[in-house]
Amino acid sequence: MSDALKLGFAPFAAPAKIGVSGVLFVFCDDGLKFGPATAKALGPAAGLVARAAKAERFTGKSGSTLELIVPEGLKVARLVVIGAGKSSAGKSAGLEQKDLLKLGGLAMGKLPLAASEGVVFAELPGGALKAEQAADIALGVMLRAYAFDRYKTKRKDDEKPPARRSMTIAVGDAPGARAAYARRAAIGGGVLLARDLVNEPANVLYPEEFARRTASLKKVGVAVEVLDLKAMKKLGMHALLGVGQGSARESRVVVMRWNGGKAGEPPVAFIGKGVCFDTGGISIKPAAGMEDMKGDMAGAACVTGLIQALAVRKAKVNAVGVIGLVENMPDGNAQRPGDIVTSMSGQTIEIINTDAEGRLVLADVLWYAAKRFKPKFMVDLATLTGAIIVALGQEYAGMFSNDDKLCERLTKAGELTGELVWRMPLSAAYDKMIDSKFADMKNTGGSRWGGAITAAQFIQRHVADKTPWAHLDIAGTGFDSRQSDINKSWGSGWGVRLLDRLVADYYER
Ligand code: BES
Ligand code: MN
Ligand code: ZN
Repeated sequence: MSDALKLGFAPFAAPAKIGVSGVLFVFCDDGLKFGPATAKALGPAAGLVARAAKAERFTGKSGSTLELIVPEGLKVARLVVIGAGKSSAGKSAGLEQKDLLKLGGLAMGKLPLAASEGVVFAELPGGALKAEQAADIALGVMLRAYAFDRYKTKRKDDEKPPARRSMTIAVGDAPGARAAYARRAAIGGGVLLARDLVNEPANVLYPEEFARRTASLKKVGVAVEVLDLKAMKKLGMHALLGVGQGSARESRVVVMRWNGGKAGEPPVAFIGKGVCFDTGGISIKPAAGMEDMKGDMAGAACVTGLIQALAVRKAKVNAVGVIGLVENMPDGNAQRPGDIVTSMSGQTIEIINTDAEGRLVLADVLWYAAKRFKPKFMVDLATLTGAIIVALGQEYAGMFSNDDKLCERLTKAGELTGELVWRMPLSAAYDKMIDSKFADMKNTGGSRWGGAITAAQFIQRHVADKTPWAHLDIAGTGFDSRQSDINKSWGSGWGVRLLDRLVADYYER
């Protein structure tokens, strides 16, 4: 991990203070205009920018960049001009958080590997950015700086960043930005934890090890409880246990509780699919691409990162995270197609395809969470179906829900954070498709048609007591997803920012 990056805030200063080996980052709009502090800092070098822009056809379009090496008149190694597009023209206050994250990400992406110091002028032609906005840029820097490289042992010295690197955000109100950043660092820390968990290989991160890692949340005030096989059997979680029975690694359920709200107030609940590796089991998957199934615990990783984020930023909410951790393997003891298991709800399930295992895990964990915690609502996250990737690609996660209000709120939080969700249907006609000849239901729809929907119908049959619930199918967004200016990692940490925002905007007292 690139945790060697030091992020800080300082007042605007002359470039001479940056140092001759440093990099200066400035923003301009699509008329190549700069804010006043930026223009002052650039001085005559602004003329160089105009010349370079012409030569490079740089127009300040949002997301574009222009680099000037050892610009004359500026005592820096490099000047990077980042286009902020139209959005900046005279109304910098109108920028959404996701736009500011992107600006920070773009800057970090242009810090050369060899550079040890960067300074970002948090200013647009419309004027200086507010403390909160500068803090958002810093979060963008943090998210972009992440790299999962702990298993790279052979990098040459000139392929490594300097041991100490810093990015400083220059802003009018530096103390205010520093204070605003504390909250964002908590959220960013949650995203990075989720990414780490998703990126870890399955020989390292198996259910027990995942459960062990959640213990680190105790340090920030989270109550962590681990259910072992005996406890799960006693509760009757045979849908989940059936999935894990072919693995040499024991299954676990982890309950994480953050109580920052009023005592006795019902919690909000987040549930994660944590299949540490999904071979498909006896209904085994083809070899090509199977290595990606180490990421089949992205839902559980998101929930873990989210609960950590809520605790670190001391969110005024009672929140519970419950994750089902299993490994789906073929084995002499593995579950077979045709087997019938009884879930914790008492309903029986005929296993048609052992590769439709995520819904079996969620069935028990959702039932348990609703019964034990009687939450205000439950959101589950799962890399559940290839079908949702066929439907929505990698831009949106699929959302299925029994509650319009919860959907509206998730949709809004998605637009604000850039972690988008798209509602998909549920209905009696789809529900019928999982009726079974031998048991109460079967674990697939029988054909591939509507595969993401029949999976959601299955889960809905395990939502106890009509609890408001939303299911997010993150198969297209949780890993190997679209690379962005704030994410170059395979494991994306998708959902942490979305759900933190949902909590912050609607459920904190
Ligand atoms: N973990 C997979 C879904 C998946 C596929 C996630 C690709 C991310 C990328 C899930 O357990 C699975 O195997 N689903 C099957 C269900 C089918 C057997 C009904 C699928 O989508 O093919
Ligand atoms: Mn599967
Ligand atoms: Zn799976």
